[in-house]
Amino acid sequence: MDKKEWFEKELAERTLYCEEVLEKYLPAEQGAAKTVIEAMNYSVRAGGKRLRPMFIAQVCMMYGGRRELAEPFMAALEMIHTYSLVHDDLPCMDNDEYRRGRKTTHAVYGEGMAVLAGDGLLNYAYETALRAFTQAKNEQETQAVVSAMEILAGGAGIYGMVGGQCADIEAEEQPQRVSAALLDYIHEHKTACMIESGFMIGAVLAGAPGKDVELLRGIASDIGVAFQIRDDILDVTGDEAVLGKPIGSDAAEGKRTYVDIHGMEKAQKDVEELSNRALERLASLSASDEFLTALIQSLIDREK
Ligand code: IPE
Ligand code: IPE
Ligand code: MG
Ligand code: MG
Ligand code: MG
Repeated sequence: MDKKEWFEKELAERTLYCEEVLEKYLPAEQGAAKTVIEAMNYSVRAGGKRLRPMFIAQVCMMYGGRRELAEPFMAALEMIHTYSLVHDDLPCMDNDEYRRGRKTTHAVYGEGMAVLAGDGLLNYAYETALRAFTQAKNEQETQAVVSAMEILAGGAGIYGMVGGQCADIEAEEQPQRVSAALLDYIHEHKTACMIESGFMIGAVLAGAPGKDVELLRGIASDIGVAFQIRDDILDVTGDEAVLGKPIGSDAAEGKRTYVDIHGMEKAQKDVEELSNRALERLASLSASDEFLTALIQSLIDREK
């Protein structure tokens, strides 16, 4: 088996594992709130690359952690990510009709229900992550779960993803005022913060050295910014059928993207540089993982 075949096989297995974990924690579609639960599950089950839970699982494993502690957080982080997409697609935000290869949640369930499905996923994420406490075997693990809860909440919040989304929609109103520095802030917050959460949660749950957890924050920040630059590129050059979401959405919304500011060539060069810098620093940690390295490499020229 060559390296590419090996990677594709491993990726498929790990994606399936993330799907199984998610499925285990999704709420049952019953009771008075059945409709909103259906809308939540519709959004999560639509698929997606499952990168954020994969980062948790992979980093946790890399430091010898227990999957029982990681799994509630894997499901929780993907629920928060999915909520961010459901709200991001609303007509009052990016106004998109397709996501993960199917109609967006508001297109199927209506705007009100899509807002609630997002709210439901955000809240249920914490209900799910809290279940990790019942898996903790000693004081040290209980403390690790507390730290992971803090990272989960912080990365998604006003000083994290929500803060980035705030700057993103304000920038859309005044595209001529979007500087390279402002766009970096937007990318670091709306996208990189949740990627950082994945890496750091995996590490703290495994009891990784504090020094490594901080290094992982920086590494994941580069990976996250590169990921969003590539997302901006794919909004121009991507194939809708592969990507599962519309091309040209940024232009239609009048958004100033990384490609507009820096040009296509420099954009892809920066994706490579940021990713390679992340890979170099990853190699300097006290633990390593072949699949994680290959996964980060694969994102440099991802098509979806
Ligand atoms: C989409 O994230 C939103 C961005 C941060 C660019 P992903 O590209 O990870 O979306 P899914 O989860 O695979 O659908
Ligand atoms: C979204 O960025 C980041 C989120 C926090 C949801 P985009 O708006 O570029 O993501 P896509 O292109 O709709 O997936
Ligand atoms: Mg957006
Ligand atoms: Mg969008
Ligand atoms: Mg985009």
